[in-house]
Amino acid sequence: MPPPPIRPVFINLGPRSYVVQVGKGLLATTGEEVNKKLADRTRCAVITDSNVGPLYAEKVMQSLRDAGKEPHLITVPAGEASKSLISSETVLSEMAKAGLDRKSFVVALGGGVIGDLGGFCAAIYQRGIPYVQIPTTVLSQVDSSVGGKTGVNLPDAKNMVGAFHQPVLVIADIDTLSSLPKREWNEGFAEIIKHAAIKDPSLYAQIDAIADGKGDLVAVIRRNISIKAAIVEADEFETIGTRALLNFGHTLGHAIEAAAGYGKLLHGEAISLGLRAAAWLSTQMSGLNAQEHDRIVNLLKRFELPVTLGEEFSTEEIMRIARMDKKFEKGRIRFVLLKKAGEAYLSKDVLEGHLINALDEIRKPV
Ligand code: NAD
Ligand code: GLY
Repeated sequence: MPPPPIRPVFINLGPRSYVVQVGKGLLATTGEEVNKKLADRTRCAVITDSNVGPLYAEKVMQSLRDAGKEPHLITVPAGEASKSLISSETVLSEMAKAGLDRKSFVVALGGGVIGDLGGFCAAIYQRGIPYVQIPTTVLSQVDSSVGGKTGVNLPDAKNMVGAFHQPVLVIADIDTLSSLPKREWNEGFAEIIKHAAIKDPSLYAQIDAIADGKGDLVAVIRRNISIKAAIVEADEFETIGTRALLNFGHTLGHAIEAAAGYGKLLHGEAISLGLRAAAWLSTQMSGLNAQEHDRIVNLLKRFELPVTLGEEFSTEEIMRIARMDKKFEKGRIRFVLLKKAGEAYLSKDVLEGHLINALDEIRKPV
């Protein structure tokens, strides 16, 4: 049987529009796809990490060479710790040493860490050069590679330094997911469950099917990219509140991730705890019913994601970090709640005390 046709998802952002190619066997098409957008550019940096590089960099580099490009490989250590200012300085210096100029471009090959770091380096190198995202984790394919949020962490605060910089092309090759370790596979479903909860609860059944080892992964990933695309198209720079809905579960999730120490909990694992907290607060403050709350928590559990906050994470430390959140103002925080599954909104009623109550709640086993 011939392979199914590749149907891209279009991200319509006027002059910053691009396509996301989603399907199997796409890495080998990198050069050809890049030439559709960047035919006049030759030199590029392929930024990857120490896990992904040995698996996929050569295929991408060869495809770029075959298309007449001159790729230079830059590899950083795998893991969240590489999403730092120090590591961006190393990458930028290597880009300069390799002779990249304003007519060059970047290819970010890896998970969300590489996408955020590579995109950030592209955003600031010589005041901005184009970049291509080749996401290789579930999380980066359904979320971080689309939308143009790039950046790095400060020791105490996630994503505190960054820039909006849309990629010119995204290539989501589903085949790359086959080498993901179980834990990294599972963490991606935290963002998928988030998308379902805020926008499309009809996805719950498809997510269940995937947990059962059935289901159509390409369709689920494509649907998630479309959800993210629609939100980004409505509010590219997060100024009217629509894009902020993507932060469901992230306020406490980010604080827990930083409080744990980057790399201890995977991003999706921290978000899983944040999702339970936000779903519970929604039952207390915005009328989410208990069954809908349980549906979210049970789906997270199906992917072996943590839903119970351990003793080792102190409320004081999590709250100290949460207060530095960009959305916190005078003890009040803009916080995403659900009225019901698929109906999220940005509340201004959430106070510090509510967050502390939510942290107490998620310490209880479920
Ligand atoms: P990651 O990039 O660290 O990847 C997870 C692990 O999987 C790493 O060890 C990596 O080396 C490995 N890996 C990646 N692809 C692989 C493959 N195909 N086979 C084998 N191993 C592979 O993390 P992630 O979960 O992809 O992304 C998390 C990051 O994304 C966080 O920093 C988070 O803040 C960020 N994020 C950004 C946005 C955004 O809009 N920019 C959205 C969501 C999350
Ligand atoms: N992941 C949140 C956003 O892209 O806005």
